[in-house]
Amino acid sequence: MKMKIAVLSGDGIGPEVTKESVKVLEGIAEAFGHDFQFTEALVGAIAIDKTGNPLPEETLNLCKESDAVLFGAIGDPKYDNNPDAKVRPEQGLLKLRKELGLFANIRPITAYDSLLDKSPLKREIIQGTDMVIYRELTGGIYFGEKKLSEDGKVASDLCEYSQFEIERIAHLAFKTAQQRKRKVTLVDKANVLESSRLWRRVVTELAKQYPDIALDFLFVDNAAMQMILNPSQFDVILTENMFGDIISDEGSVIGGSIGLLASASVGSGTALFEPIHGSYPQAAGKNIANPIASILSAAMLLEQFSLHDEARLINKAVEILLNENIGTIDLNKENPSSTSEIGDVIVKLIDSQEVSIGG
Ligand code: IPM
Ligand code: MN
Repeated sequence: MKMKIAVLSGDGIGPEVTKESVKVLEGIAEAFGHDFQFTEALVGAIAIDKTGNPLPEETLNLCKESDAVLFGAIGDPKYDNNPDAKVRPEQGLLKLRKELGLFANIRPITAYDSLLDKSPLKREIIQGTDMVIYRELTGGIYFGEKKLSEDGKVASDLCEYSQFEIERIAHLAFKTAQQRKRKVTLVDKANVLESSRLWRRVVTELAKQYPDIALDFLFVDNAAMQMILNPSQFDVILTENMFGDIISDEGSVIGGSIGLLASASVGSGTALFEPIHGSYPQAAGKNIANPIASILSAAMLLEQFSLHDEARLINKAVEILLNENIGTIDLNKENPSSTSEIGDVIVKLIDSQEVSIGG
């Protein structure tokens, strides 16, 4: 298969981890005879430094004409503590999501058996966790009208959703549930928010088209608690933009490290694949960051193009590596591997297993 992949590695540890997922995709291309063409482009703080724009036109055009986008991380401390900054790195990612119509962000959360004791949560609580969060990504409070009064003393962000926006992601969530444990949990705040009540009405109505799926509802505050009290009760979680942002970081605790969590953002155009972690500037340039989230995002990219054997091979290689207790410092404090070593081990494992799967 021939594929054009835009590589937007961004800020902080983004370039280091993305380099490893490109390495892994190159390994896959070689093993399976694919032709993956990688083109790099600027995004985020580094794009602001070089062009004044967190999402230069050139980058956006490249993404639009590519088959997929491999995204690294975005953000820089020099903007975080400056509420008056006019341009921010995050605007690059938000604009990209909007422009590419990436309305659904898919974030799987699994408790690997070999990592059960790495999580601060008890092993008996997290064992067997296998859920996926469907987070709406181009609506809600992130994109509603923002206001700041003239005197700078009052601010507001509008949270708005339409039936159409809710339906299109809900269909994806229900279809995924049909391939999994056949349960969808809608997470909202319908006891307080009108927009949440719309979600409930629309999702309840739509669920009639999926009689094989059990639908239940949780208020987000309770959901946040349930996710760490009894995470194995969940299959597919469907939620709006901001709640999804928050509970997916919370969910990363289950897996033992946020450095493991991958995501796919899909919608009407080119799909985008990115780790859920941020730019982790403290680790940038040190070759210590965990590249697995980025590598698993590359596996989700392959899955999106129905390259199932290829994706499975990466997932299996990651599992083997974790079983052997090979990991960056977040997972293995006594004997940490470097970022690039992890990529190398995975490529090696892919090479050795390719024969057994039959290419
Ligand atoms: C994420 C990130 C982004 C978000 C930031 C960087 C804008 O936290 O992808 O979860 O809030 O969506
Ligand atoms: Mn986030």
